[in-house]
Amino acid sequence: MNANPFPHRHLLGIQGLTPLEIGHLLDLSDGFVDHNRQAEKKRETLKGRTIINLFFENSTRTRTSFELAAKRLGADVINMQVSTSSVVKGETLIDTAMTLNAMHADVLCVRHPDSGAVKLLSDKVNCAVINGGDGTHEHPTQALLDALTIRRRKGQLSGLLVAICGDVLHSRVARSNIYLLNAMGARVRLVAPKTLLPAKAERLGAEVFHDMAAGLKDVDIVMMLRVQNERMQGSYIPSIREYFHFFGLDYDKLKEAKPDALIMHPGPMNRGVEIDSEVADDFERSVIREQVEMGVAVRMACLVVLTRNLPSAKPNHV
Ligand code: NCD
Repeated sequence: MNANPFPHRHLLGIQGLTPLEIGHLLDLSDGFVDHNRQAEKKRETLKGRTIINLFFENSTRTRTSFELAAKRLGADVINMQVSTSSVVKGETLIDTAMTLNAMHADVLCVRHPDSGAVKLLSDKVNCAVINGGDGTHEHPTQALLDALTIRRRKGQLSGLLVAICGDVLHSRVARSNIYLLNAMGARVRLVAPKTLLPAKAERLGAEVFHDMAAGLKDVDIVMMLRVQNERMQGSYIPSIREYFHFFGLDYDKLKEAKPDALIMHPGPMNRGVEIDSEVADDFERSVIREQVEMGVAVRMACLVVLTRNLPSAKPNHV
């Protein structure tokens, strides 16, 4: 039997994906890592396809890596940066969907400040949709690239102890990673001050710590999160100095982790806030730049599996 290893129209989140589906995406991505290291990177897999990057929120690495991924596969790419100052909600979003339908896009890569907005859009369009981050909800391609980085370094995800530290409350990266790591048999710890954790954080499938020394004890992976000032209304942390003192990753706190623990951060980093600059640049421990490299490979894999599932001819109306 030749069952489709990824039978989904969209990639809106990690929640709901099976370990086999996640494993399939990671295996495919692995092949693209080697491919991307060659001088000749262009393929024709997506020749004739139109990919639209629709970003309602600022982004550097996610948008560029979707663009690179699509171009390396031979697709045509359009970048639409929608003004973040305009009120982009409800009806406007549906209008955008109608416009994109009329343009016969094949895949939309969408980032939006509201949780659930990407799903709403996916219900209205004829093409495949990849969630490039929606509010504080999910960021599936980030979790996949993190998993690929870890799997290539550690050989497998199963059995690893992963600490996700910092502003979990506002982090779609944390949520997607918790789902993925749990699905793949890793154990997750969340390490954060109470003000930066969602209510009942344990229910997400993690052990909760409010102290870095205890939370980092014997972990295989230390994943730091950006303090997301733009999503904070009011005061969540007393001061940057105090935050760094208690929750910023420095060599002293890192001592608690396993000697070969990897340091990760999705970027952009606030150096001196959640992570010490030297630790971030420590080429023996930090895989932050490798994460960016894996991002392109993972997005290529996602584009390939979703375009495989597109109907070969579209209906003759918009
Ligand atoms: C993350 C995001 O946008 O959610 N960044 C990213 O995709 N590289 C994390 C963040 O903004 O802190």
